[in-house]
Amino acid sequence: MPRTIVAGNWKMHKTAADTAAFLDAFLAELVDAPAHVDIFIAPPFTAIQTASERLSGSRVSLGAQTMHWDLEGPFTGEISAPMLKEFGVSFVILGHSERRAACGETDAGVNRKTHTALAQGLMPVIAVGETAAERSAGAADRRVVHQIRAALDGVPPAAFGRLAIAYEPIWAIGTGNNCDPIEADRMMGLIRNALPGLEDTPILYGGSMKAENVADYTAKPNINGGLVGGASLDAHGFADLVRHAR
Ligand code: PGA
Repeated sequence: MPRTIVAGNWKMHKTAADTAAFLDAFLAELVDAPAHVDIFIAPPFTAIQTASERLSGSRVSLGAQTMHWDLEGPFTGEISAPMLKEFGVSFVILGHSERRAACGETDAGVNRKTHTALAQGLMPVIAVGETAAERSAGAADRRVVHQIRAALDGVPPAAFGRLAIAYEPIWAIGTGNNCDPIEADRMMGLIRNALPGLEDTPILYGGSMKAENVADYTAKPNINGGLVGGASLDAHGFADLVRHAR
């Protein structure tokens, strides 16, 4: 069984000063947090140095919200794996639906980034999920299985223990309209069976997860934790969510 992972995705929230204040409060809150939960935080790039200093020696892993597939080059505005590793970043979210919808991220790009992250020793957290229209058309299962197979094309199953997957139905993100845990577990079972070798890969649920519902998800057999947006922005609230994770 994979360990439970609770990962905060701060999106475009928090300056470096906000990050310092959050982490001082959050780390103090973690004294009574359960030991079976691995805690991840992905701040914006501009706060990574501050977060790295605050998190050094703590139990919280530092991540990035995206990265480029090349290690360097003429890519204005982009960030590479070596730049992230310099600050102790250990995981990177790839293919978040907001980046697919607004920043032109494609299945092929996510695949290239996945290969780079693994080669660079970063843990990819690959996000997949269907739109509301795909769900009502009965296409959710097909869409998500396709996204996973595309993201992992050419990745050897031996590497599946060094990555995580986040199932994030797009209609549930930031809406308060979270996916029923039984249906999320079913979708995540499909993901687990999409390729041989994913049996022990952590699969996280994302989409309006909060302290009040995290236990309903993490009690399910195919759900190994959460990728949390809005509910990761308040130090006390996020610590409370970690405390309720099963
Ligand atoms: P949310 O976002 O928790 O605010 O719904 C989740 C995500 O987009 O990763």
